[in-house]
Amino acid sequence: MKKQTSLVLAAILSATSLTLSAKPASVDDYRAMLGDSPGLLWVEDGEALWKQKSGPKNVSLEACDLGKGPGVIAGAYAELPRYFKDTDNVMDLEARLKHCMVSLQGKDPKQIDKQAFSSPKKYIDSDMEKMVAYVAAASNSMPFNVTLNHAKEKAAYEAGEALFWRRSSVMDFSCATCHAQDDKRIRLQSLYNAYNKENAGKTIGTWPTYRVSQDTVRTMQHRMWDCHWQMRLPDIDYASDAATALILFMTKQANDGEIQVPSIKR
Ligand code: HEC
Repeated sequence: MKKQTSLVLAAILSATSLTLSAKPASVDDYRAMLGDSPGLLWVEDGEALWKQKSGPKNVSLEACDLGKGPGVIAGAYAELPRYFKDTDNVMDLEARLKHCMVSLQGKDPKQIDKQAFSSPKKYIDSDMEKMVAYVAAASNSMPFNVTLNHAKEKAAYEAGEALFWRRSSVMDFSCATCHAQDDKRIRLQSLYNAYNKENAGKTIGTWPTYRVSQDTVRTMQHRMWDCHWQMRLPDIDYASDAATALILFMTKQANDGEIQVPSIKR
């Protein structure tokens, strides 16, 4: 009995030694132990969803044009956000997928917004997170190549940068308060710098990502929602022009950065 207790104690001690040792286990350690990203499961599900007939019109998304022609997925994410002639608007991947789900499949846009983010703790799933993982992964190893050739792309980039610097809400923060300098951090998290090309490339190139703390793949639109919440701002609308403008600004800053998704983050 006594021996058992000491064995249990030893087990507890060795299990907690990770947190007691001088260097705490990091997401990097976790990543090394895990090998492949669990996000690959989202990619697989996303492929099935893309090909599956669905919605009131009972068609798949295979005719969806993500910018490189109907059904072309390879390399599409590397050039998004971009201007689309049919909607006369700049769209990121999520705004475009939403558009295809509405126009091709006849789905309700409000319902798409509602189900865009999963809630693993409430067992609420998101098809969007899976399809984003699938489409984005089809640009793996490619560099971001976002252009500002169209006047509306240029305008969206400028709006995005203005939003990035606009201070507001109870804390009077802007995105730039946290993301415009090297070596800034909050507690143990280092904060990315949108104006450091290498850092921006590595950061934006690793979204969508499997978030260990949330046990799901999160998308860049979700990150926009998350940082707005952190700033105590009202929720930013899903796939809105404002969110897309911010994403275009950040992605352009990250141009030439290599896409490696879905990554693993905290
Ligand atoms: C109070 C500081 C703060 C402000 C203001 C802020 N963020 Fe963040 N941001 C964070 C933190 C903290 C993280 C998470 C870092 C982590 O978990 O490693 C983060 C993460 C991010 C990431 C992902 C970085 C990565 O390493 O993958 C992006 C992109 C981002 N923020 C963009 C924005 C944008 C755009 C705004 C303005 C709408 C904004 N942030 C405002 C603190 C802030």
